[in-house]
Amino acid sequence: MDDLHSLRKAFLDEIAVVTGLDGLQQIKSRYTGKKGLLTEKLKALSSISHEERRDYGKLVNEIKDFIEHTVKEKELAFKKIEKENRLQTEKIDITLTGKQFCFGAKHPISQVLSEIKDIFVSMGFGIEEGPEVELDYYNFEALNLPKDHPARDMQDTFYVSDDVVLRTHTSPVQVRVMERKKPPLKIIAPGKVYRCDSDVSHTAMFHQVEGLMVDTDISFSHLKGLLELFIHSFFGKDTPVRFRPSYFPFTEPSAEVDIGCIFCLGKGCRVCKTTGWLEVMGCGMVNPRVFEMSGYRPDEYTGFAFGMGVERMTMLRYSIDDIRLFYENDLRFLKQF
Ligand code: DAH
Repeated sequence: MDDLHSLRKAFLDEIAVVTGLDGLQQIKSRYTGKKGLLTEKLKALSSISHEERRDYGKLVNEIKDFIEHTVKEKELAFKKIEKENRLQTEKIDITLTGKQFCFGAKHPISQVLSEIKDIFVSMGFGIEEGPEVELDYYNFEALNLPKDHPARDMQDTFYVSDDVVLRTHTSPVQVRVMERKKPPLKIIAPGKVYRCDSDVSHTAMFHQVEGLMVDTDISFSHLKGLLELFIHSFFGKDTPVRFRPSYFPFTEPSAEVDIGCIFCLGKGCRVCKTTGWLEVMGCGMVNPRVFEMSGYRPDEYTGFAFGMGVERMTMLRYSIDDIRLFYENDLRFLKQF
């Protein structure tokens, strides 16, 4: 029995200094393993006298339970420490500031273009496209601008070859659509156009939106009503609008549409050249010559057309005084939209 008590004491001494799970495992098998010290004592039970055997066996089992229990507790304690160590070393420092994301946005010209399209689509217009590298025929001739016509001077053209140009306006889409489709027609044609020109209000590439409506009884009143409606939805319903007689070879009669100057509210300033009005687009009744060239009978159909510059509309909307800002990609400018 003394043996057993000193075994228990030896165990306690060892367990007091053990530092990790491995050491613990070794102690456990040294005492209670197959050939463990305590196991040996249990095996020796048969050589013990009958009287002593009961108490001896009882004590062996008690010590065995005690060792197992102590080892288990110690094991849990070590595991807890190990887990805490892991939590410490693997900790993610969430106080570190992250990298700032910079979200992209639609370019102001694209935003305004979408807005213009939405207004016309809501009035039942379809959207058409045409090529930017265009035949001289569609860009000029079919629009009643023959090769030697002086009105060609109105547009400084990039020539690709004698017969091919970078389109100077979106008007050629009118002819291309009329060649393909029968009236009634109600379309807009947005897109890029090119002119050999550059200053605070001109860039070599800019955007236009063309419009065309053709049916059997379209009159100038339809044109006025529609464009007034458009201008009021784009610039606000109190914006003054006027139609001023003008000239375009592809329309007859032709007009220029002006809005009350948004800078001086009609009083007259540098921007409106003291007139109190700002020009926003050209328009008119489709010239019968253009119908003929496109295969429509001028005695059967009438129609109107209009064309506006998207950069100009955007500059007026946001009071921007230099068109080149749109294409410099300066984020300080672009982020304001
Ligand atoms: N194409 C003309 C230009 O670029 C604008 C224009 C004027 C278009 C009158 C039209 C129109 O459809 O009827 O200056």
